[in-house]
Amino acid sequence: MSIVAPSLLAADFLKLDAECKMLNESEADWFHLDVMDGRFVPNISFGPMIIEFIRKTTTKVCDVHLMILEPEKYAEAFKKAGADILSVHIEACPHLHRNIQQIKSLGMQAGVAINPHTPIDSLKDVIADIDLVCMMSVNPGFGGQSFIPHTLTRIKELKKLINETGSKAKIEIDGGVTIENAKSIMDAGADVLVAGNTVFKSPNPKETISLLKKM
Ligand code: DX5
Ligand code: ZN
Repeated sequence: MSIVAPSLLAADFLKLDAECKMLNESEADWFHLDVMDGRFVPNISFGPMIIEFIRKTTTKVCDVHLMILEPEKYAEAFKKAGADILSVHIEACPHLHRNIQQIKSLGMQAGVAINPHTPIDSLKDVIADIDLVCMMSVNPGFGGQSFIPHTLTRIKELKKLINETGSKAKIEIDGGVTIENAKSIMDAGADVLVAGNTVFKSPNPKETISLLKKM
């Protein structure tokens, strides 16, 4: 059974209340919330203010994916907004170990997000300290892109690293997840499926979530 984390980036923001209600009634486990700064990635999405509103609608896990530079400046604001899990990008953090300690000391679970070209091996010295690896299966910045097939090899490599180090980190796959490729992603060793367009553009989002859940 996978953990399903629909990405609100693909939701209709004029109907945010209804979209959150739909997720609450569904089998979705987490709300995946994508924060973009227009600097680390070439797009701007939303920040703590919107997350604070979303937090009020749900008791499900709020999984916040920061695609921003200098995330240490904002970690406290995201905690206050209600984040349960906070992920920072390895490529944006020259002091990654410090970022992880900060997130944990604020009382959140710590995640590290990794771009498609960044070697898995670069996680080796922090893997025992973190709760989640958000493995990008597209280049971050936009929803609705195609899954990069090489990700499947990278999942296996990461799973091996996790097993060897006794880490408790979960593997989350983010970008281009569909009903068609979800099983191969889970078979490779993933724990969490993020899905934006596949869920929100579906004629029956709740049923789509149930299908992803069974993978
Ligand atoms: C991409 C984001 C993803 C995105 C996934 O930068 O991190 O979470 O919303 O969207 P889909 O599932 O549509 O590829
Ligand atoms: Zn994301």
